[in-house]
Amino acid sequence: MKKRLMPIVTFITALLLIAVGCSQSPQAKEAPHQTKNGSSSKKGNLPNIKILATGGTIAGADKSKTSTTEYKAGAVGVDSLIQAVPEMEDIAHVSGEQIVNIDSQNMDNKTLLKLAKRVNELLRSDDTDGIVITHGTDTLEETAYFLNLTVKSEKPVVVAGSMRPSTAIGADGPSNLYNAVKVAAAPEAKGKGALVVLNDRIGSARYVTKTNTTATDTFKSEEMGYIGTIADDVYFNNIITRKHTKDTDFNIAKLKKLPQVDIIYGYQNDGGYLFDAAAKAGAKGIVFAGAGNGSMSDTAKKGAVKAVKNGLAIVRSTRTGNGAVTPNREFEKDRLLASNSLNPQKARILLMLALTKTDDPERLQTYFNEY
Ligand code: DGL
Repeated sequence: MKKRLMPIVTFITALLLIAVGCSQSPQAKEAPHQTKNGSSSKKGNLPNIKILATGGTIAGADKSKTSTTEYKAGAVGVDSLIQAVPEMEDIAHVSGEQIVNIDSQNMDNKTLLKLAKRVNELLRSDDTDGIVITHGTDTLEETAYFLNLTVKSEKPVVVAGSMRPSTAIGADGPSNLYNAVKVAAAPEAKGKGALVVLNDRIGSARYVTKTNTTATDTFKSEEMGYIGTIADDVYFNNIITRKHTKDTDFNIAKLKKLPQVDIIYGYQNDGGYLFDAAAKAGAKGIVFAGAGNGSMSDTAKKGAVKAVKNGLAIVRSTRTGNGAVTPNREFEKDRLLASNSLNPQKARILLMLALTKTDDPERLQTYFNEY
């Protein structure tokens, strides 16, 4: 009887040993693991990624699991965001810091400066290899573009958000955060300026924009394309030709305040009085979201020309969502500048920074041509 049982016991023991071996993660066995574009790193040698949380839907919560539009944004702290994705520890040493916890429509110049200064401070240290910023999606592209122009480091800076709150069925926050950390940990992400990661895509802060009010694939880069994708590994497909990070003129280290720049929308029957109102309220620059190729009605143009004569910088952008606004002689002679392919909200970010360097229209236009 005993003799007959022996082979069975040996077989079961062997099966158990195989099963234990299989259940260990590759990292636990100290095998190299793939992180990006084929490069690999050892568990003990993982990069240090700092997550700076600012609020938004990714930190949103509601009592109902089915609610995706009615919830409180910025309800959950950075520690909870990190705890929700323990898998990040396999790809990086992750730590968090709460900068603010707000809806991103309340992101203001003061907080932007605070955030960018903190990013620069952290990246100066050898202890930080990359940064992930969690952010509400409504104004995410503005913060990302501001960082793209003001971070003085080649280390990866990745801005991530989500469209569904953390409590929703199918919440996209955890996977977006995981992917953002993966990108920030990728050596290939260095020197590419600020990146935006949502929905398995990597966008350049210069080109990506929010295109849909509620869908998870809202961030698009229609004209220029994404610069990369995440499909377990990180793949970069495009290069950024515009000046960013270390190559910009902007140093915010000592900057206490940004000049006021407002946006005026162009429409049928609009009037020049909005330019007067902005100037009166302290604007140093105005971005005009014109129809088509930054066109202006005669009345709006009158208001804009008056503003230029009073020392304001006026930049024509477009409400169309795509394409470049070209200088055109008709506007050049009145020193009405062209935003190139920057949408109005990003043109505002660049104009604020450019006005800290110069108010000369020609030099201002150079920034729009190069950045
Ligand atoms: N109020 C929005 C914001 O914080 C929530 C939208 C979102 O984060 O997706 O930008």
